[in-house]
Amino acid sequence: MEAHLTEWLNLSIRWIHMIVGIAWIGASFYFVWLENNLNRANPRDGLSGDLWAIHGGGIYHLEKYKLAPPQMPDNLHWFKWEAYTTWLSGVALLMVVYYLNPSLYLIAPGSDMAPAMAIAIGFGSLIVGWFVYDLLCDSPLGKKPALLGLVLFVLVIFAAWAYSQVFSGRAAYIHTGALIGTIMVGNVFRIIMPAQRALVAAIEQNRTPDPVLPAKGLLRSRHNNYFTLPVLFIMISNHFPSTYGSQYNWLILAGISVLAVLVRHYFNTRHESNRFAWALPAAAVGMICLAFVTAPNRQGGVPNAVPTSPREQSIEAQQAAASAEQGTNGEFAKVRSVIDERCTVCHAAQPSSPLFSAPPAGVMFDTPQQIQQQAAKIHAQAVASQIMPLGNMTNMTQEERDLLGAWIDKGAPIE
Ligand code: HEC
Repeated sequence: MEAHLTEWLNLSIRWIHMIVGIAWIGASFYFVWLENNLNRANPRDGLSGDLWAIHGGGIYHLEKYKLAPPQMPDNLHWFKWEAYTTWLSGVALLMVVYYLNPSLYLIAPGSDMAPAMAIAIGFGSLIVGWFVYDLLCDSPLGKKPALLGLVLFVLVIFAAWAYSQVFSGRAAYIHTGALIGTIMVGNVFRIIMPAQRALVAAIEQNRTPDPVLPAKGLLRSRHNNYFTLPVLFIMISNHFPSTYGSQYNWLILAGISVLAVLVRHYFNTRHESNRFAWALPAAAVGMICLAFVTAPNRQGGVPNAVPTSPREQSIEAQQAAASAEQGTNGEFAKVRSVIDERCTVCHAAQPSSPLFSAPPAGVMFDTPQQIQQQAAKIHAQAVASQIMPLGNMTNMTQEERDLLGAWIDKGAPIE
């Protein structure tokens, strides 16, 4: 029952997180687009530009003021709750998925870190991360936006690497995303909103607004703009074990982030010139390269999880030879007993683990046919990367992984 409740809690919070996240990023994309597409030729007095648009069966006319309208409107719309609720629901989700079950999802398999310690590192790093970022932006480096951007990129990837040393791959990715998300929301809460409030107050009191705050707000909002695409990838990355499950997961994340930032840059600048049009095909080629280098070991890619040493390879060969002598039948019997021992506590129609009320991800290994049909997935999860068993709760050994790998390489025969 408890597992069932957690699942519905997870479902509800995740749903909310997605809805408010779309509202936030959607509005932010819209305003960037608006800014970039304003018609700035001969604007009316006091305007910096305007724009006509049609949407949902209606025609809209939007105007942007150079500073402010002569009179502040009664009802000025602010965009902040989208950001705040995205962060709050994100933290709630982090708790439900990772902090309620630290040994399952958070801590690196095989590590003996105390759950409380892991949670403290996870959540604490988000807060510390914000302060480091904020200090850097306010330091002299803040005057050199390109260099600052580079430093921030290196620091984020360093964080991803550091997380991957103590957390499971999924948790390392999600914490990198949460760190960036915290910075983005911090920017809205601590910099952009105060700057806007000061602007509105100055206008209402007929003062000249202080130019420092808006300049700061602009830098931070530019950072948020470039952060969006990498964060969105991280939020869906849990579906893709060839990324977070790799031994080089932080490097793969760095590669994907570079491509994402390039694409964002193209969209940010294309109204001025098509100078960055090459970014789109370059990103596509980059993704193909990443797909290639993350291919499972047996197809000649970069080794995932734990590289196989020549010695291990020879053990594998011996095992394969031995099982060939026994006939494949004997081999499948062994495979089945490994799976029974290491996987079916969770992956059965009725899991015996109290953590699950239904087979996780719908994956069941009750019959030989089910095992055979999912051989490729088993390879991805338990051989190439060592994501499964989750948190290695069932203490699967390297020999057992090799056994599964050798059997799958032979085409996963069950008779
Ligand atoms: C402690 C429980 C547990 C054990 C033991 C376990 N798994 Fe899983 N497995 C999970 C959970 C939870 C998920 C769903 C992960 C998610 O939310 O993406 C999962 C997902 C999977 C998936 C589907 C992944 C996908 O994205 O389609 C496969 C395949 C899988 N496990 C294989 C195995 C194999 C093979 C073993 C044994 C070597 C194993 N698992 C042991 C809990 C477990």
